[in-house]
Amino acid sequence: MTGYCEAANVSDLADGALFRGTVCGREILLARAGGQFYATDPLCPHLQADLSLGSLHGTILTCPLHNSQFDLRDGHVVRWTDLSGTVLTYDKKAHPSRPLRCYPVKTEGGRFYILLP
Ligand code: FES
Repeated sequence: MTGYCEAANVSDLADGALFRGTVCGREILLARAGGQFYATDPLCPHLQADLSLGSLHGTILTCPLHNSQFDLRDGHVVRWTDLSGTVLTYDKKAHPSRPLRCYPVKTEGGRFYILLP
């Protein structure tokens, strides 16, 4: 399905909240930070941890598994894992850094919509 999909009431998502849900048949992570709404893939691009269990500070989302950090505004990688030493060397080859996929959003009439491809 293409086009904007209705995701939630604006009032359903408190500032600083992360919520994993299904929108138009797709698993999506919804977030609200600084009064803005964001939508991303719900799984970490490193090893698929559930990002709804992570933490949000401003627009920086931290993965609960290896602490990679992504900026919700465009999905760019702020930090790629907190691994170190030999494990990091191996991991960089096996799982090169990748951004978090983000989706455009809009609010209208107290509702929050996501543009899905
Ligand atoms: S699964 Fe997210 S940082 Fe490893």
